[in-house]
Amino acid sequence: MSSPSCPRPRTVLVTGAARRLGRQIALTLAAGGWQVAVHYRASTQDAIETVAACARLAGASAHFEADFSDEAAVRALLPRVVGHFGAVDAVVNSASLFEHDDAASFGFATLEQHLRSNTGAPIVLAQALHAHLQARAAAGEADAQGAVVNLLDQKLWNQNPDFLSYTLSKAALEAAGTMLAMALAPRVRVVGVAPGLTLTSHLLSDEKFQQLHRLSPLGRSSTPEDVASAVQFALANRALTGTTLLVDGGQHLMKFERDFSLM
Ligand SMILES: NC(=O)c1ccc[n+]([C@@H]2O[C@H](COP(=O)([O-])OP(=O)(O)OC[C@H]3O[C@@H](n4cnc5c(N)ncnc54)[C@H](OP(=O)(O)O)[C@@H]3O)[C@@H](O)[C@H]2O)c1
Repeated sequence: MSSPSCPRPRTVLVTGAARRLGRQIALTLAAGGWQVAVHYRASTQDAIETVAACARLAGASAHFEADFSDEAAVRALLPRVVGHFGAVDAVVNSASLFEHDDAASFGFATLEQHLRSNTGAPIVLAQALHAHLQARAAAGEADAQGAVVNLLDQKLWNQNPDFLSYTLSKAALEAAGTMLAMALAPRVRVVGVAPGLTLTSHLLSDEKFQQLHRLSPLGRSSTPEDVASAVQFALANRALTGTTLLVDGGQHLMKFERDFSLM
């Protein structure tokens, strides 16, 4: 994607892009002309395959490893991407830790792990994108603006007691979206995208997943393509900031007593 004032292709960093939803977001954005920096932690082979698929669509892509429990590694990530592509225009924060705890098993260690990867890392990446765009503006670029999309979860609007630390980390990220949208404007827009049940996990059989996926006012929750197209829209629409798109077939309008993976 390029604009008249910026003839080079636009570059997006998608975190957790080796597999699952992050991979679909990377492919959708590549198909729209974005050069994609594919972040991964442990899924090296999947990241290599995602990069190859993105490069076939957009001409350039590269993979970048970083463990988001390590602040120094998070801080180094965006500069590494800038070093490779020359510039970065957007960040999609899809990487996420999703480990179970509840009121009985809660402890500081689990909370801190979730806050580091699911809250701290997206904020540091937004901060780094803002600093990078400020530097480009100071160097004379007329329209140095970018966007951050944070993957949230419909369960913030439809709470249950499961995955306490994960939910707290996403609630903090949702609140950070408002604060960052105010603090980083006009350089950086910040938009949330909140999927419903989209992909299954090892905790659910295929049959149970299909049954739960239908459990929504629209009779279907979100598909990876639905979520990826909402991310693409959030990146493209220059009037959006400080808000969240719920892409969940309306699941947030229903009440669930437990997390889907434990129903
Ligand atoms: N899937 C759903 O149905 C659903 C529903 C609601 C919301 N969401 C949200 O949508 C996003 C994508 O969902 P998903 O199911 O694709 O996520 P996922 O498979 O649970 O995790 C995505 C990636 O996050 C990376 N990751 C985890 N911990 C990390 C860490 N400490 N440092 C760096 N990377 C780390 C992992 O990369 P490696 O594999 O390379 O280690 C993993 O592949 C998440 O933010 C999730 O909360 C998903």
